[in-house]
Amino acid sequence: MQHDNFKHRAKDWDKRSNTNTKTIGGAILERFALHSEMELLDFGSGTGLLGFEIAQHVKKVYGVDTSASMLEQLSAKNTPELSIEIVHQDIIQTPLQRSFDGLISSMTLHHIEDLHLFFSTIHSNIEEDGFIAIADLELEDGSFHSDNTGVFHFGFDTDELQRIASRSGFRDVEISQVNTIKKPHKEYGVFLLTATK
Ligand SMILES: C[S@@+](CC[C@H](N)C(=O)[O-])C[C@H]1O[C@@H](n2cnc3c(N)ncnc32)[C@H](O)[C@@H]1O
Repeated sequence: MQHDNFKHRAKDWDKRSNTNTKTIGGAILERFALHSEMELLDFGSGTGLLGFEIAQHVKKVYGVDTSASMLEQLSAKNTPELSIEIVHQDIIQTPLQRSFDGLISSMTLHHIEDLHLFFSTIHSNIEEDGFIAIADLELEDGSFHSDNTGVFHFGFDTDELQRIASRSGFRDVEISQVNTIKKPHKEYGVFLLTATK
């Protein structure tokens, strides 16, 4: 398992504004008819900010993350009424041997070095007609994070990302801006990529 780059941030993660994950969750709910039979992966779930938004609309969300400290915070929020199943595994290096109705993800893709490997691996974990909904930063100049440790991409060229997802076998790949994050020095665009298998 890779180094836990979120160890020092996990405890206070939810004290940051979660407006961005709420907006991303709203955009996903607008685009897909989620229902109570669905089982979804939340890739890079962290403390579950996006996962819990979505979990109430589906049968089960599996929160996949490589950070034990972020998953510990997620686990503390689980209740008998609403819970996320924790998967502490690097599913790109060690793929899961089952498929899901869809994959959601918020602000994790910039931590994934090999995008071709990512899209082709998750393609195997999605059911026919299942979906992916992945939100992350549009191209930025490296100033979004105060520390770029573990950041492999300064946002994304959305045309290039669309091509990679299509080449990996996804269809109806669409990308649109769903939010902007305002920091004192700059504004950063957040896109949502949606596609079907
Ligand atoms: C910026 S945080 C986003 C957390 C959450 N999705 C949110 O929006 O609040 C990125 C998360 O991706 C996780 N991550 C990084 N590389 C990963 C990998 N290869 N597989 C799964 N999770 C990973 C990190 O541990 C961290 O929890």
